[in-house]
This record gives sequence, structure tokens and C-alpha cells, in this order.
Amino acid sequence: MNLDIIILAAGQGKRMYSAKPKILHSVGSWCLLEHVHKTAMQLNPDRIWIVHGHGSRQVLDAMHHLDATWIEQLEQRGTGHAVAQVSARLGDDGTVLVLYGDVPLITADTLNRLLAHGDPDRRLNLLTVGLDEPAGYGRILRNATGAVTHIVEEKDANAEQKQIREVNTGILCTSGALLKRWVGQLRNENSQQEYYLTDIVSMAVQDGVPLHTARPDDVVEVMGVNTRTQLATLERAWQRRQAQWLMERGVTLRDPERIDIRGEITDLGQDVEIDINVILEGKIRLGNGVRIGPHVVLRNASIGDQTEILAYSLIEDAAIGSACRIGPFARVRPETVLADQVHIGNFVEIKKTSIGNGSKVNHLSYIGDACIGQQVNVGAGTITCNYDGVNKHQTLIEDGAFIGSDTQLVAPVKVGKNATIGAGSTITRDAPADALTLSRVGQKTVDGWTRPLKKTQT
Ligand code: UD1
Ligand code: CA
Repeated sequence: MNLDIIILAAGQGKRMYSAKPKILHSVGSWCLLEHVHKTAMQLNPDRIWIVHGHGSRQVLDAMHHLDATWIEQLEQRGTGHAVAQVSARLGDDGTVLVLYGDVPLITADTLNRLLAHGDPDRRLNLLTVGLDEPAGYGRILRNATGAVTHIVEEKDANAEQKQIREVNTGILCTSGALLKRWVGQLRNENSQQEYYLTDIVSMAVQDGVPLHTARPDDVVEVMGVNTRTQLATLERAWQRRQAQWLMERGVTLRDPERIDIRGEITDLGQDVEIDINVILEGKIRLGNGVRIGPHVVLRNASIGDQTEILAYSLIEDAAIGSACRIGPFARVRPETVLADQVHIGNFVEIKKTSIGNGSKVNHLSYIGDACIGQQVNVGAGTITCNYDGVNKHQTLIEDGAFIGSDTQLVAPVKVGKNATIGAGSTITRDAPADALTLSRVGQKTVDGWTRPLKKTQT
């Protein structure tokens, strides 16, 4: 089946009170238009057309990567007028599906159901939904036999029609030839003086073209975003959908209402456990048995099997090996690669550093631009002085080294294999392997020294 998808996205979104076009606002990590486009792509269309208008420049700048043909609607004169910008360019055979850039949570399952009804050359299929509070939507009018006869817009509806709870979601499909014909006949003689796409319903009835309706699995699929409140509602719905997806794949969520996924989980092991208020951003890989404590943020991170991330840690653009223990309160910054069984403790910041198997940086350290071997112990309060104010320099710590607490490693510098650095040292030259190096000022005791006494006031 030949399939063209039109995404209407020219509207302004006045009620967002935003300098940004509505369709560029985000749900999860994708903007509204990207959500719709992703779903459209799942249907394997021949062509996706996006009708843009309000904030064109901004929309194109942000969204030019989308696989679509962009059509500008210079004046927004209604949904029928928007479709007309495309329909002239459509072929006669094949199906046309109309979607909305501000209705982000529509699913491919629902759309496939809509597309399944009737003869593709002779049909008009509408996605409708029953709402307890239908105000604001176009109402579906049916005759005594239950066949759809008309859609009446809220602003044109009489009191009796306003009682109808079955509403038009706006999403529909028909054939290219029929759409072209009907859209060419639209008039704007209504209360809003707009060209209503919905008027093609009565044309279909007149032409004896069969109408079919389908319903979404869930009403959130057809909810549009007009206000920030609706945006927040759909954000929660989207997060619940993702939480559900995780649980169906064997993840334990301590509270599915308190996780936010703003990206994609590209790899997911078995028996992952996630505590409350965790944020997962970008591309995330979680191995088997990974445990994530409360209030952890992971951004583009890969976490190996059986690794535990403790409370309040932030890990960004980093790869963590297996059986590691990170945090609580650890900050792992970009370009960090940790091998297996590495421990990173509280108030430790790691940047652009690789750390070998079994090494530990347990307390209050800054490690940047370093390469640390295996079985290294970095004592509390160790600092790699990696920046001279102009350039960054490397610190190399070889296997088995022991760095005493409160050491400053002034890079570029190397600590050899199995070297020991005495606590409190400032290491400015390479420390040889298998030896104790320290730069501490010798300890002395001053005999006969007495503490000063508090002066008495005169
Ligand atoms: C439309 C339907 C209504 C339905 C409702 C569902 C019509 C006439 N009415 O009403 O039956 O219940 O959607 O939400 O179709 N757009 C353009 N160009 C335009 C006008 C609109 O691209 O000139 C886009 C908007 O950006 C938006 C969508 O079309 O994404 C719907 O437009 P909107 O004005 O919100 O339609 P409604 O009045 O809500
Ligand atoms: Ca309108």
C-alpha cells in the first residue's frame, strides 16, 4: 500500500505563552513534532509531509533532520486549508493519513487499526473517541443506523449536539484522489471562517463513500497540547508509558510514578532495580542486576552487570564496568571509562579518566585527565592538578599504586607501578615504581612552647 502521511503543524499555540512554537516543546526528550514523526516512521510511509507555518524559521532550524517534505502554509486558514497545501501534490492512488504535530502520543498500533478498515480506494476512516467532557472538540453525528453523517465543530454546534460525547480526534485517512477532490470543494462559511477539514465527512456521505471509525487504545493518544498544563499531563502519561515498558521487560521500579526517562534505553539486562526519583537521559545501557539508588541522574551512560549506583550520583557520557560501586554523591563526568569492580565513593568527581579493574577512589577526590591502572588505591582528598590555567595535563598512575590521602598530583606526572605516595604530598615529578615517595615537610615538636592566654580587658 502506498502511504502518504501529512502532519499538520502550522498552528501558533497562543495559549502556551511561549516564544517557541508549540510543536518544539518537549515531552520526555523529544519535541511534540518529533514524537509524531517517530510514530509516522513506524508505519513505513512513502512520504511524510509536514505543514509548517507559525515560527517556520525556528521549526526548520530545529527539525531539519527529520525525514520529511516541508510545506509552508503562509496563513493559517484552517485544517482543510492546511491539507490543501499538500493535497495538490499527492498522487491519486494510495492512502493519505492526517496527523497533528501537537498530538504527540498517538501510537502506531492505533493508526494501523485505523488504516485496516475498508477499501483503500473508497473510504474515509476517522479516529474518534468518547469523552466525558467533550467541550472544545468537533462532535461526531450519526444517523439512526449508527452511520457517521457529519462532524460539527463546537463553535457551530447547537445545545443538543453539544451533548454528544463521541468526538473527532482530527486524525483520519482516505485515498489521495478523494482527498484532493473534497479539499478542493471546501468552503469557509462557518463561525470561524476557516476551511474545516472535517467538512469532508459530509462530502463522503454525499458521494456514497463508506465511513469507518476506529478508537485509540487510550485517550492520551489523541490528547493535544494547547497549554502548559496539558503539556505536563502528557509528560506524565508518557513517563507512565515508559515505566510500564520497563516493568514489562523485567525492571523493578520502586515507584513507577517517580522515574523520568528522557531518552532511550538501548540495552537492558535482567533484574534491574531502580529506586525513586531517578532520571535517565539520552542513550542508556543497563546490564544485568544493575541497581540504581534514589535521586540518581544518568545521561548517556552505560552501566555494566551487577553495578550499583548509590543515591544522589550524577553520571554523564561515561561507561561503567561490571560490579562497580559508585556513590553516594559521586559525579562522573564525560569521557570517563571505568573497568570492573571499581569503587567511586562520596564527593568524588571523575573527568576524562580511565580506571582499571579493582581500583578505588573512595572519598572526596578530584580525578581529571588521568589514566589509572588496576588495583590502585587513591586516598581521601587526592587531587589531580590537571590545569595550569592554560592547558590540561595528564596524570598516569600505574597498577598497584597507593596514593596517600590529601595528595596533590601536579600533572603532567606519573606514579609508577606499586609505588606508594605518602599522605599529604605534593607530587610534581614522576614517582618511581615500587618505592615510597613523599614531599611532606618534616614533623617537628617545639619543646617548652605554651599556648597564648586570653588577654584580660583593662
Ligand atoms: C480540530 C478539528 C476538531 C477536532 C480537534 C481535535 C477541524 C475543523 N476541527 O479542531 O473537529 O475535534 O481538531 O483536536 O479540523 N493547523 C494548521 N493550519 C491551520 C489550522 C490548523 O496546521 O490553518 C494545525 C494546528 O497546528 C493543529 C491542528 O491543525 O496541530 C488542529 O488545529 P486546531 O486549530 O487546534 O483545530 P481545532 O479547532 O482544535
Ligand atoms: Ca481552530
